[in-house]
Amino acid sequence: MKKIVVLVSGGGTNLQALIDAQKRGEIVNGNITCVVSSNEKAYALERARANGIAARVIKRGDYGSQQEYDRALAGILLEEKADLVVLAGFMTIFGETVIREFENRIINIHPSLIPAFCGKGFYGLRVHEHALARGVKLTGATAHFVNEVCDGGPIILQKAVETQIGDTPEILQKRVMEQAEWKILPKAVSLFCQDKLSVQNGTVIISE
Ligand code: GRF
Repeated sequence: MKKIVVLVSGGGTNLQALIDAQKRGEIVNGNITCVVSSNEKAYALERARANGIAARVIKRGDYGSQQEYDRALAGILLEEKADLVVLAGFMTIFGETVIREFENRIINIHPSLIPAFCGKGFYGLRVHEHALARGVKLTGATAHFVNEVCDGGPIILQKAVETQIGDTPEILQKRVMEQAEWKILPKAVSLFCQDKLSVQNGTVIISE
């Protein structure tokens, strides 16, 4: 059974989708063993506690330098013996110490079809604001491995979602979450836990 550690900073609806999938038996060979938040007020922590999952907090402000923070975060993940790290709305930047230690073992969910509307500055509602301003008819979500390039790691799964006349960033965000993020994130995690994902030349190969 692989140990899954989920990093969060906010509401944690993607964490909830993972917990619900786990309860339905859809996370094959994986178990969410710990939730780590960069914000002690994150509602995601309540979700962890309500489901009997260990919850920890690590705040950037408690560390002097980025390097110290990275080392502390890597320390927690090693202490928790994480096989897989999932970024589910984790808003704090971490560096190469963590990325190198967990190469191709960190999965992020991004609310667009990468490479559209991604990279530095594209997070939260901003992603959907840009998508609507550009007038795209299709947007969606991407589950990908994390490497040193922001939103640039190997793509695992993507799902398209249609925009509609009258969409606001908030309405579109909700649709993208419901129709794409909450579906592909648990699926990507389950594939990982079954050792069905391999990365070859920057591309994810899914074996069935
Ligand atoms: C989601 O839109 C996710 O794609 C992005 O951050 C948001 C997190 O929302 N990375 P939640 O905390 O899971 O509700």
